[in-house]
Amino acid sequence: MIRANENYNKLQASYLFSDIAKRVENFQQQNPEIPVIRLGIGDVTRALPQAVIKGFHDGVDEMAVDATFRGYGPEQGYAFLREKIAAHDFQARGADISPDEIFVSDGAKCDSGNFQELFANDIKIAIPDPVYPVYLDTNVMAGRTGEFKNGRYENIVYMECLKENDFLPELPTEKVDLIYLCFPNNPTGSTATKSQLKVWVDYARENRALILFDAAYEAFIRDETLPRSIYEIEGAKEVAVEFRSFSKTAGFTGTRCGFTVVPKACSVFSSTGEKISLHSLWNRRQSTKFNGVSYPVQKATEAVYSEEGQAQVKELIDYYLNNAAIIRKTIASLGFDHVGGDNSPYIWIDGNGRDSWDFFDLLLNKASVVCTPGGGFGRCGNPYIRLSAFNSLENVTLAMERVKAELK
Ligand code: MLT
Repeated sequence: MIRANENYNKLQASYLFSDIAKRVENFQQQNPEIPVIRLGIGDVTRALPQAVIKGFHDGVDEMAVDATFRGYGPEQGYAFLREKIAAHDFQARGADISPDEIFVSDGAKCDSGNFQELFANDIKIAIPDPVYPVYLDTNVMAGRTGEFKNGRYENIVYMECLKENDFLPELPTEKVDLIYLCFPNNPTGSTATKSQLKVWVDYARENRALILFDAAYEAFIRDETLPRSIYEIEGAKEVAVEFRSFSKTAGFTGTRCGFTVVPKACSVFSSTGEKISLHSLWNRRQSTKFNGVSYPVQKATEAVYSEEGQAQVKELIDYYLNNAAIIRKTIASLGFDHVGGDNSPYIWIDGNGRDSWDFFDLLLNKASVVCTPGGGFGRCGNPYIRLSAFNSLENVTLAMERVKAELK
């Protein structure tokens, strides 16, 4: 008899963003004459930068000729891209990361979901609340949690991110082995300073723990004093893995490219305490289960690092940050407390006592604006909604006019 992985029964009915998409589709079917404005899922709306398009075309043209055609590429990514990433994103910022510590992939969602495969099943995991659902759900699927009770899975250490602690997770009081951190944060938009991150690096070093650091939104950081990578913190190379994405940086949500940094100095431990190279484990996993990102996509990604590519990507992010500023201004004028949106595309809004799904329904039904209900990110998210700056300026402006008309 073929039996199911019953850990899946512990999961919530459907993935948060699929659930929202269904509700929006229902609304749209019942109200076809009202165009809905989507500020829910963080999906980019503007075209790929011209430099990226040229890189893409060049890659496709090479595939069209026998002499330059490529079959299977290296599972870890082509050297031309790994070298650019290492030099630009890390070495230029004083972080000593080499190209062979970078694993190019089809995105940070897959990598941050897959990485837990490398760990034993009885480790103690600390996860922020609210949190990007992928970290938690993939550990549930793997059987590392107990049942879901009162909005929480058993066997998980939740780090509550509340207004009182500026939405920054605090060190757990019990010893943990694996820590998920994300800055700029999804969903709250909060950021962490170097000294705040150092506390985590020191903790991981003292406790032989590992940090999985999601930096998918680092390109939105405009405050130059803030770190963009955990490797800007001394000692992090031994205790942290970093996930990066071109989705929000360069408009790649549909193109798919990201990467994960696994430093060679990073170890996990056997049950008898011997060091095992995490780099070797991930390399083994990727070469078994992954066949690399397509050549044209890697050529397109390489173009992000050209001079024109950098200027165009900055312009793209500035555009979304301007949207974020418009959202923040409107929300503040309506008297809602909020964080994020300055070094992040997300604005986390206190619903003034409303339940987040009620607030979601209110905005959808009355203003035809889609947000993400904070409760979908965890129990601590219940009083909040998240608005995303990923849409056109015209749509964001119109959405804010509608919200203002409904809520003032
Ligand atoms: C989000 O809206 O939180 C993101 O788009 C999710 C993702 O990047 O997978």
